[in-house]
Amino acid sequence: MGSSYWRNGPVLNNAISGVDEALWDIKGKLANMPVYDLLGGKCRQGAAVYRHVDGATPEEVENNVRKYMEQGYRYVRCQQGVYGGNMTMGGNMLGSAGKQFHLTENPPIGAYFDPKQYMKNTYKLFDHLRSSLGFEIELLHDVHERLAPIDAVRFAKEMEQYRLFFLEDILAPEQIGWFKMVRSQSATPIAMGELFNNPLEWEGLVTGRMIDFIRIHISQIGGITPARKVAALCEPFGVRTAWHGPNDITPAGVAAHLHLDLATSNFGIQEFVGFTEQEKEVFPGCPEVRDGYLYPNDKPGLGIDIDEEAAKKYPCTYHENRWLWARLPDGTSVRA
Ligand code: CO
Repeated sequence: MGSSYWRNGPVLNNAISGVDEALWDIKGKLANMPVYDLLGGKCRQGAAVYRHVDGATPEEVENNVRKYMEQGYRYVRCQQGVYGGNMTMGGNMLGSAGKQFHLTENPPIGAYFDPKQYMKNTYKLFDHLRSSLGFEIELLHDVHERLAPIDAVRFAKEMEQYRLFFLEDILAPEQIGWFKMVRSQSATPIAMGELFNNPLEWEGLVTGRMIDFIRIHISQIGGITPARKVAALCEPFGVRTAWHGPNDITPAGVAAHLHLDLATSNFGIQEFVGFTEQEKEVFPGCPEVRDGYLYPNDKPGLGIDIDEEAAKKYPCTYHENRWLWARLPDGTSVRA
């Protein structure tokens, strides 16, 4: 693991998190208590979750939202073209990108997006969603830090009319100095934090009341132990938790979220992408969603196991170009 003198790096923090979450699990088993009881006990029976929908057109996004509404979900994150571009997971995109964007000569292969076009498309998307679905359903949106800071300020203002549950990652972590301007100009609820490693990245945003939801990726900061301290810091400042829950987190990681969600009074919402049948096979004890709430199984510890024999059936495979870095129309590579 190296010396923790060089601290706050994501690799070290993720390694520490593996140990930290295992220790909470072991302590819970020794005490014969679920981790949520070790953390002080349940504040709620289940954690409300939000699901992701995407679509090529506003109508397709609307239909996909309706499918989740029929299953009892009340919070849905809506994107058009993933993060607002011509985005696919690999392959030569130039055929379709060339039609959509004004590219340079000899454009490099990649997934292209145009920030200005993305903004216009997103206003149209939410116009459509609110006029067709009304304001009862809670809608969320993730910018994925794809705007210039001053455009992000304007975007938050324009999106205010659609009454989002939250707007996520409107700025890159390097641009957190701009949150003050976003905050002063709109009441759109702001969610931030999935790339944070170091407490100095969130302390000022929380104590300055610049954000409404903290979205830290809990293994990225070292696991349940530091995450509960983040939640405690947030509580007096009215900031709620919305731990980052993408599909590259194992069900054990999802269980860690859920125990924190249940035991944290200032819990806000949990991002949730569901489990595959293979995940359920390898990780017996997966939490279950019923009517839009995620429930643990109430066994001691995190309540989830790893079936190593079952895992052997699914060896790791390398996905070439799984995630291409995005490009602006002139071919510039960007991180988001
Ligand atoms: Co995100």
